[in-house]
Amino acid sequence: MQNKDRSLRKKAYEEIKKYQEVVDSDPYRLDYHLMPPVGLMNDPNGLIHWKGEFHVFFQWMPFKTGHGAKFWGHYSSRDLIHWTWQPIALTPSEWYEQNGCYSGSAVNHEGKLNVFYTGNVKNDKGERETYQCLAVSEDGIHFEKKGVVIHLPEGYSAHFRDPKVWKHQDKWYMIIGAQTKEQLGCAVLYTSDDLMGWELKGEISSSKEHDYLGYMWECPDLFHLDDIDVFMFSPQGLGSQGIHYNNVHQSGYVIGELDYDRAVLHHGPFCELDRGFEFYAPQTTLDDEGRRILIGWMGVPDQDEEKQPTRAYKWIHNMTIPRELRVKKGKIRQSPVKELKKMRRNLFQKKDLKVNDESLHLSELDGAVMEVFLKFGDADAFNRFEIDLFDYAKVIYQNETKVLTLERKNVDNKSIESRSCQISKLETLQLFIDHSSIEVFVNEGEEVFTARIFPDKKNASIHFSASGSVTFDLWKWDLTGYTYQTSEKAMREANKNP
Ligand code: FRU
Repeated sequence: MQNKDRSLRKKAYEEIKKYQEVVDSDPYRLDYHLMPPVGLMNDPNGLIHWKGEFHVFFQWMPFKTGHGAKFWGHYSSRDLIHWTWQPIALTPSEWYEQNGCYSGSAVNHEGKLNVFYTGNVKNDKGERETYQCLAVSEDGIHFEKKGVVIHLPEGYSAHFRDPKVWKHQDKWYMIIGAQTKEQLGCAVLYTSDDLMGWELKGEISSSKEHDYLGYMWECPDLFHLDDIDVFMFSPQGLGSQGIHYNNVHQSGYVIGELDYDRAVLHHGPFCELDRGFEFYAPQTTLDDEGRRILIGWMGVPDQDEEKQPTRAYKWIHNMTIPRELRVKKGKIRQSPVKELKKMRRNLFQKKDLKVNDESLHLSELDGAVMEVFLKFGDADAFNRFEIDLFDYAKVIYQNETKVLTLERKNVDNKSIESRSCQISKLETLQLFIDHSSIEVFVNEGEEVFTARIFPDKKNASIHFSASGSVTFDLWKWDLTGYTYQTSEKAMREANKNP
């Protein structure tokens, strides 16, 4: 299917060229987040630190701002702030992936980059088929497809996908997100000695154990961190429960211990990873320093996707900033990777800022691309503290209930919608703002809110207000020094005749 691969690549590169100006002219285009050059971006795939470089592949639909037969796009970086767009990694050219090279992961084996992904097929009868596939690369850029390594086992529907592979002791393991024939979400474990032959070990966890946790679990990830096993996944089909599960689909984790021999995960309760509006399908990798790094998709399937204003400019969705994970007191903590500090410019600092009932506006904070850090004094001296962001979103803390809320205007009807979480005390807030995105890290990553925002571009100001008296120290930086270029190989491939 070399010809089909070649023609799909050519078509995709043409699409980039055709719409590059339109895409670049969007005022909501981001500065320091990974985005598709055109079309739709969803899950991060194959995240890996390999031969000194980070590789982030991603689900990509070049031909429209909706979902479809996905490609794997590819970015690489040495330092997580200077990114290079690389040649397309995978196109849906073979029979076993004709309706999409769906999500998956990467491992290093004998110096080669091995990527596992799901081949998605809609057959002649319109039924779904699923195949777990392998492709191997020597240079991390060009992949040789090895075909199907796992067929759908008995007992599961064709919603069986998103293989995540890792090594434990001397063996390879793979976890797959699945749905039982009874329509319960679950995760299935395989093992292998050589990455080619895979043996089914069993179902390590399922919706039943949680007293129902959805009809499908997507994008599983399993890793050992701070002396404990973490199982992350994106369950679909949870009803909202108070301040929990308010997005269309969720992303979260459980903590415990995987019994590799018996293929059983002993674990605690499910906990959401992010409290904001747009966060899904995160993936992690271990880097050479031993850090566990996470990148998530800043979007949620089926959640107001067709209402996103960037569609008028021929692109939609982006990734989160890379975050480092730790486990503290049985909970995941997320903090922006330290490399992002290299983007900081023009520090503005104010100690002992006091906000009372009157709203405070500091012109130094006017802008659309910045990091703001607040460190609070005695939080008991006030009732309510509010940050108004560009007259579009608000971060609100209620001292009495200890509830922190992110409010924003709904992208469609502009009504106010909100997401909340409970904390024990407000200590710090760290905001990463990038034109049309915001990531709020609470108390050094105890909680995070991730969301897209679409403010009127003429309104670039931030206002603080409080009832009672709030005192805090403030730091603000403009964020630049992030670059985004196209590799020579990608240029050559884009200009090549078929
Ligand atoms: C999650 C997901 C995955 C699938 C991919 C298809 O967003 O639905 O389960 O592999 O997206 O693009």
